[in-house]
Formats: sequence, structure tokens, C-alpha cells
Amino acid sequence: MKIYSIFFNLILLQLITINAFSGKFSTRQQLLMDFNWKFLQSDAKDAENPDFDDSQWRTLNLPHDWSIEGDFKEDAATKGAGGYLPTGIGWYRKHFNLSTNPKEQNVWIEFDGVYMNSDVWINGQYLGKHHNGYTSFYYDLTPFIKKVENIIAVRVDNSLQPNSRWYSGSGIYRHVWLNISSAVHIAQWGNYITTTSVDSSSAIVSVRTSIQNNFLVSKKIILRSVIINESGKKIATSDTAVSLSPSGTADVEQMLKVIAPSLWSIETPTLYTLNSSILENTKQLDNAVSTFGIRKIEYDKDKGFLLNGKHVKMNGVCLHHDAGCLGAAVPEQAWKRRLEVLKEMGCNAIRTSHNPPAPEFLNLCDKMGFLVMDEAFDEWEIGKGQVEYSYHLYFNECWQKDLLSMIYRDRNHPSVVIWSAGNEVLDQGKDRGIEVLRQIIETFHKEDPTRPVTVANDRIADVDYPAKNAFLELQDVVGYNYVDRWLKRRELYYSVDRHDHPDWKMIGTENVSVPGIRGEYFLGFDKKTVVRPGRSTDYKMNMVQAEQLWRFTSVYDYVIGDFMWTGVDYLGESNWPRKNSSSGAIDLCGFPKDGYYFYQSQWTKKPMVHLFPHWNWVGHEGEVIPVIAYTNCDSVELFLNGKSFGIKSAIFPQQGNSGGWNKFDHPFVPATTSDLHLSWDVPYEPGTLMAIGRKDGKIVTEKIRTTSKPSTIRLSADRKEVNADAQDIVNVKVEIVDENGLVVPEADNLLKFKVEGDGILIGTDNGNPQDRANMKSKQRKAFNGLALAVIQSTVKNGNIRLTVVSAGLKDAVIEIVSINSANYSAVVERFK
Ligand code: GAL
Repeated sequence: MKIYSIFFNLILLQLITINAFSGKFSTRQQLLMDFNWKFLQSDAKDAENPDFDDSQWRTLNLPHDWSIEGDFKEDAATKGAGGYLPTGIGWYRKHFNLSTNPKEQNVWIEFDGVYMNSDVWINGQYLGKHHNGYTSFYYDLTPFIKKVENIIAVRVDNSLQPNSRWYSGSGIYRHVWLNISSAVHIAQWGNYITTTSVDSSSAIVSVRTSIQNNFLVSKKIILRSVIINESGKKIATSDTAVSLSPSGTADVEQMLKVIAPSLWSIETPTLYTLNSSILENTKQLDNAVSTFGIRKIEYDKDKGFLLNGKHVKMNGVCLHHDAGCLGAAVPEQAWKRRLEVLKEMGCNAIRTSHNPPAPEFLNLCDKMGFLVMDEAFDEWEIGKGQVEYSYHLYFNECWQKDLLSMIYRDRNHPSVVIWSAGNEVLDQGKDRGIEVLRQIIETFHKEDPTRPVTVANDRIADVDYPAKNAFLELQDVVGYNYVDRWLKRRELYYSVDRHDHPDWKMIGTENVSVPGIRGEYFLGFDKKTVVRPGRSTDYKMNMVQAEQLWRFTSVYDYVIGDFMWTGVDYLGESNWPRKNSSSGAIDLCGFPKDGYYFYQSQWTKKPMVHLFPHWNWVGHEGEVIPVIAYTNCDSVELFLNGKSFGIKSAIFPQQGNSGGWNKFDHPFVPATTSDLHLSWDVPYEPGTLMAIGRKDGKIVTEKIRTTSKPSTIRLSADRKEVNADAQDIVNVKVEIVDENGLVVPEADNLLKFKVEGDGILIGTDNGNPQDRANMKSKQRKAFNGLALAVIQSTVKNGNIRLTVVSAGLKDAVIEIVSINSANYSAVVERFK
């Protein structure tokens, strides 16, 4: 558990004091070190030196991504891969004091992620270089730290471009922590918690703890491990006496029995806490807190994936690490909102393509009940042509360090159920690649024998450069990228390999989604919109490939599941004039697209109907407009202005007989299509389209109405209150509505945003891939009726007021309350 401390009430002071160890609190502190850094967006000579003058540098809080602050430029060095945003070199400096003498303590600094090539110094002393932009790393500060006037200097070099196939961001874009513990302490990521035997009556929890003694004398200590349940009750304890030699280490294994455990699952993601303390006589020297879940995972070549003995199909999405207008510096609340929207879609699994995520992302997945495929790399030894300076340059030097960082950091998360060693690595077709994979898999198996390892292979059926069979045979689970675009095997999908390799376990690591741009509809087949043979961005056809694949995936249990590309739109991997990819079910603002409802119709049970397109087709009166519905209902009847266009029903999933010939559990509804969507040809006239869905005696109604012109701005916030911690955010949805309160589907009015009070506008967006206004801009057009404003709290309690104005429309104002600043100060007090 991380304890937040705040340093920003000294906003004008560069030198802050970290209130460490007063004797009263002789346990570990993990202090958030995000506040009041000095920053320069260029290289600087001698900036690592303690006496360097940084007074003219900008003061800011982390997480920080300087790329997202810049303008989109067609000639940017990142090219379309990186979203046409600036990169370069930047420096960060942090001044701080400790409140007590750091003697007899162990102090280390932990970076959750810096993109990329960082060099770190403390007090002029060089600590090291870290190339990888996604893995977490830490440095021991103990030998160099003083009570007063410490300076951490970080140089970030993202100047070699292009180095990424997607938007990376630049800078210290994740949290930084200062850890202070006793010289004898539990090592960083020093707990490994697994459940060796699990059933509903009991579970054996195995805890392996690495202890480090930095004293120059031997120590006799007790390691006490206590498991605490969600109600805060201690339910199991184990004490082990340990003798540590001077400067020695020890690995201690303990077994704790939990009676009647509440198992972690997608529906009930119960978490337990492990509190590990080091005691010398009765004095507590150190303690570390870890969260874990008790659950059983199994992978079976025939039955697929089983969670606690029950079959679960992974209904997954791939996600990159950016959050649209916030770039790579993503507040936890932004992930929470996106994950909530995905959960509503019925998604139960995430692939962290193509790198380890932020730690808080995994915490959320633990708490919210998502299964995670945690992925290590996009490249091994062989680079992908278009990104000259990417990770393959560092792979041989760094892979082991980076892989261990990911495994040690992430292996206690119950959400993480499978590791991916890499995405579409070109090494899959080389003999040498077999050797590289063998070493990677050995490392995974040694450090975490509880989870299988896959690779996202895209060349299993390639003609020119096929994946080596020995490469595939090594994988615990064989991963399939784009199984639907493989030569003549397109519609056979996995079945050919299933026949040839009946022992393989198979998973769709990455596959087609329903593409599209939110609210964009073209009438007629437009050649320009064809994105790939057999696919189109035409709203009437673009779901067809995904439907065909989903039918196969859902029917065959041996297909563990699928991760479609992607859950959310992401910056980069685009071509001018677009700045982002639009493969998501959700747009860059987090607003669902039509495709979102396709997945919801297949992945959820609560009766739903989603209708599209909009019904504003002025000038097309009398023309046939295809109206589409995604639904999980047994049947849907469509009406226009009260006139029925007929009842339709999909054949899939088909109901078989039960209990005898021609007997059915549910009333039999004759099918009208073998597609997974329903469609009506409707001659256009303005008015109201209404769909009535029927399922198990329940009725759902969905309406789309022709709107009149824009009249008012409507604002709605996803939260009424935010925490006054300078980290929390609120998302405000902006809708352009007509005089009846209906969202005007093609409205693109220019909006001006003003935030007053105790909040800061940190981003605006509208989901349009071609909108290239700066992501921090205070004015932006609406796109197809919608826009988004993201506001971050300050450290003050109070009201945040957002006003949005637009010429010719009624203004709108919304207020959000910022609270709990007092609680925050209380946390600081604890350390005084
Ligand atoms: C895949 C790749 C992804 C992304 C996607 C775009 O082959 O793994 O990273 O590039 O194609 O369709």
C-alpha cells in the first residue's frame, strides 16, 4: 500500500523536507515524490551538479509528459507512428531535505516509468541509466543521501526518433516514490505470494520474502507475516526466526492457511492484504504491505481457461498506455473510468500491449475483476523497420533486467493470469529466435511458475517468413495475432493447427475489432473507405469480420479467448491528417462507438438494443438508409414514426432442443439472419426510429430522433467530488443539444472552456482523429455532438467551476467539489 505524502504546501519553496523517521514511526515509509520538480525541455550542461542554478526552470508535478503539451506537426520526428508530437531531451530536478538524519536507514528511489533513456544522479553522484520506457526501476540512495539539500537530477533522452510504433510520451510520466526503511528490511518487490492449494474450504498461501541486512553486524530477527481480510480482520499469522549475516540476505518461505477463503473472481474480486514485518525482539524495524488474491487458474488444451474450476472465455481487448489528451501521464482515475466503460461492455480481460503497464493500472484490474495478459516487449533482437531507434538496440543489454522488473513487480497481482513475452517479434521466424524465447521462458518459469507464457505470433501461417515450429512448441499457450487474415485459412482460424497440434493451448492474442470513428456514417459503398481487403469503414459492413471471428471463438472452448485490437483509440500509429488510430471500441475521450455495443450484445446478458445511424438525413428524404441494431434480445421490432418495419432475430447463438424433439427452454423465435447484427432498409423521413427488443418476457426500447439545430450546451461530470490531492480528476462530457435536449449528431460548434476555483483544466478532446488542436487547448470544436474536458484538483478544498461557451448557444456551467484536503494533511502529519 502506498502512503501519499504532500509537499506542495511549500509551493514557492524549492527545497522541501521529507519527514522521515522520527523514531515514533519506526516502520517503512513509501512517500509519493511527485510534487515540485523543476523541469527544462531541452538538454542542459552540468544540470546533474548540485550547485546548478535551476531557478528559472518550470516547476511542475509528476506524472508529466512533455510530448502531449506540444503541437501536432506533420514533420515531427516521431512521424505518424508517434502521433506527430514533439519528443527530444528534457531534464528534471528535485530538491528535498529529510527531517532526520538518514543514518541507519535504507533509502531508495523508485521510478514507475520514464520514457526513455533516463540517467539519474543524486547530489551529483551518478546512479545509472535505464533505457526501457515502460519498466519500473529503482536506485539505492543510502550511501549518498544527506539530511539537507539533496538533489535528484534526471535526464530523459527521447531524441532518437522514431523509436516507437505508437505514441510513447516523453518524460517522467509515471509516479516516483521515495522509500525509507530500516537498514534491515524487506527488499524492493521482496514478497512473492502464491496460493498452492485452493478450494472453498481452505487455501494454503505461500509467502516468499527476501530480506536484506545492510548493517555491518549480523542480525537475529523475526519475520512476521499476517494475512488480513477485506474487513480488516487478521486471519492468519506466521512467525519465522531468521539469522542474517552482516550485509547478508535471506529468502524466507512461510505457509499460511486461510480457512473458507473468498476466492478472487471477475464478479467478486476479493483481495487480501499481507502485512510483513521484521521484528528485533519486540521492536518493529520494517514492514511491507502487499495485496493479493486467492484464486486458482488452469489452462486446458480442450476446455480453455478455468478460473476457480469454472470455464471463462476471455473477452479481451488490447490497450496502449496513453489516455488521449492526457498523453502518457495518466491519473489513476482516468484508467478507472475507462475500465468501468469497458466492464459495462462485458470485457473481462486486458492485454497490456505491448509493454508492462503502470502499477496502479494493475491495482485497478485486481479491484475491478479483470484478467490481464501482461506483455513484456514489442521487439527482441530484430527491429521493426519503420522504427529505427526502438528497443531492439538495447534488447541484449537489458532484456533480463526489464523482464525481472516486470515479473517481480507484477507477480502478486491476482488479475495477471498470463505473461506475454512479446508482440509480433520478427525473431519468431529465425533459429536464433528459438534460443531467445527459450531464455525468456526459462526466466518466467523460474521466477513465476504459476502462470503460462505466450507470444503474440502473427506469422504462424506466413508463406515468406513463417514462425518456426520449435518457436511455437516452446510456448505454454500459443498466441494468435490476426488468425482471421491468414491466406486460405481465414475462416478456419485455429482449427487447422488444432488438428495438426492437438496438444497446443491456443489464445487469440490480438484480432480484428469493429472499426470506425464515433458518429461518422457514410451512405453507399465508398472505395476510399476500404481499409483492408474484406474490410471497410462503412457502417453497414464494418462489423462482419469481427462477427465471423467471434462466432468461432465463442463456440470452441479450446480457444481460450481473444483480445481485440483495441479497447480504446490511442495516439499515434496514424497517417496525416490523422493523429491517432481509431481501432477502439471507445474513442479517445472514452465515449463508446457503435462497435462498443456489438461487443456488449455478445458479452453481456442484461437486455440491450443499440440502434444506428443517427436520423438526421436532410436532403435524403425517400432514400433507403440501412438501420442497424446490435442486441442480445431474442427479437427486435423496428418502427419509424409508428410504422413497423418488421421483427428480426439472429440465429446465433442457436437454441437446441431440450428434453425431447421440438421442445425448447425458451419460446422459439424464427431467425431472420445468420449475422450477429440486425438490419432494416428504411426509406428516410424525419421523425422517430424506435426499436423494441424482447428477451425472456422483458422489453427494452431504444429511440433515435431527428433533431433540430444546436441550441444549448449540456455538461455532465462523471463525479460530483474529487479529492484535493493535485492528482484526482473529473471528466466533463460536453453535449451540443437542440431545444428538446437531443444531442445534435453532427454538431461541430467551437467551444471555449474556462475553469475557475480549485481545479486546473488539463486536457480537452473530441475524439476526432483529424482534430489536431493542441491537447491542452482551452478551445476546441465539438465532434459529432460531443467533446470532453478533463479537470484536475489542486491541494485546496473548494469548488471547481467549469464554464463552456459557444457563439449562438446557451452557455453551460458545472460545479464540482474538491474535498479531503484535510485528510491529506493528516497523512503528512503522521510523519512529523
Ligand atoms: C498489429 C500490431 C499492433 C498494431 C496493429 C494495427 O499487427 O501488433 O501493435 O500495429 O497491428 O492494426
